[in-house]
Amino acid sequence: MKGIILHGGHGTRLRPLTHTGPKQLLPIANKPMSQYALEDFREAGITDIGIIIGDVYPEKVKEYYGNGENFGVKITYIYQDKPKGISHAIKLCKDFVGKEKFIVYLGDNILRKGLIDYKKNFESSSIDAMILLCKVDDPSRFGIAEINSNSNAIEKIIEKPKEPKSDLAVIGVYFLTPKIFDVIDVLKPSARGELEITEALQLLMNNGNSIKYETVTGWWKDTGTPEDILHANQLVLDSIGKENQFVIDKDAIIKNNIVIGNNSEISTDSHLEGPLIIGNNCKVGSGVRLGPNVSVGNNTVLENCHIDNSILMENCEISSNVHLSSSIIANGSKIEANNETHDTYQLLLGERSQLKI
Ligand code: DAU
Repeated sequence: MKGIILHGGHGTRLRPLTHTGPKQLLPIANKPMSQYALEDFREAGITDIGIIIGDVYPEKVKEYYGNGENFGVKITYIYQDKPKGISHAIKLCKDFVGKEKFIVYLGDNILRKGLIDYKKNFESSSIDAMILLCKVDDPSRFGIAEINSNSNAIEKIIEKPKEPKSDLAVIGVYFLTPKIFDVIDVLKPSARGELEITEALQLLMNNGNSIKYETVTGWWKDTGTPEDILHANQLVLDSIGKENQFVIDKDAIIKNNIVIGNNSEISTDSHLEGPLIIGNNCKVGSGVRLGPNVSVGNNTVLENCHIDNSILMENCEISSNVHLSSSIIANGSKIEANNETHDTYQLLLGERSQLKI
């Protein structure tokens, strides 16, 4: 079986973070979010992986993953010139897939339990497609499946209905056979101008093919907004030390739910509260309060600050009495205080931002 990771799209809801790279490379607990998909494939024994890259810095994706050998997989890159829809992206993979069953994983989705069991069930079945469903509070944000209460079969799959009749979201992991290519060939763009995966699945059903579903146990997260990213960060950090799939770096020190990377110096005069991850070569100076739910990227230097529920990426410097909460600070940013301030800030800073408070 082959795997496909969707790494295109524009990530407009995540600007300014996505002005300098694709959203799927944004770190969750110090690891690009698409790496969770790649590792799920690898754990499930799928090592032949196609990555769809789009028109937002595709070279950064190739630079990070290379040919896949550092990650124990083999990667084929497939270009999509514009984000014309998930079904469009899948269509581009026809030659890569050949005649095999395959799994498509949206690079901005994270699934706590991985793929192993779902993949086994799909592989040993004769069904034409399988989707995963998860109960959500805000169904109009997702593709939704309506299930017949008597037969338990899928009745309808609809993309972001305004008045949803079900709260079961179709998550961004699709188990498919090459039959999907025939229906994508006759799909028309939706109102938002995309070839929708939900419409392809509906058409597959209309044509008499069998689609089954499984319900997701454990959490699943679509990281479309900054709030989603912070929530995903918290969920992943929560499982540090408990779930192998989320262990970051073999050499890191893990104490309870705090991970400290190589060469990082932590002042005895600082206060760390897990769950928390600090990358390599960081300096956590005196008077710093960090955590809970914080990820600090490599080479970041902190002095005198208080940070909770936030993501600081690599090479950042924060030297002020500022309190950051629910913030995302991208690579190379610098925050300093001209005056003593103990105010709380909620910031979303793109790469190399400079802030004097
Ligand atoms: O997360 C689950 C949801 O994902 C499903 O419930 C929806 O049915 C499905 O349409 C999708 O909805 P989104 O609106 O969240 O899709 P988004 O445009 O964010 O794209 C999902 C991922 O696929 C994202 O990582 C970008 C990538 N992508 C998207 C498009 C449209 C591509 O690589 N190429 C594309 O053309």
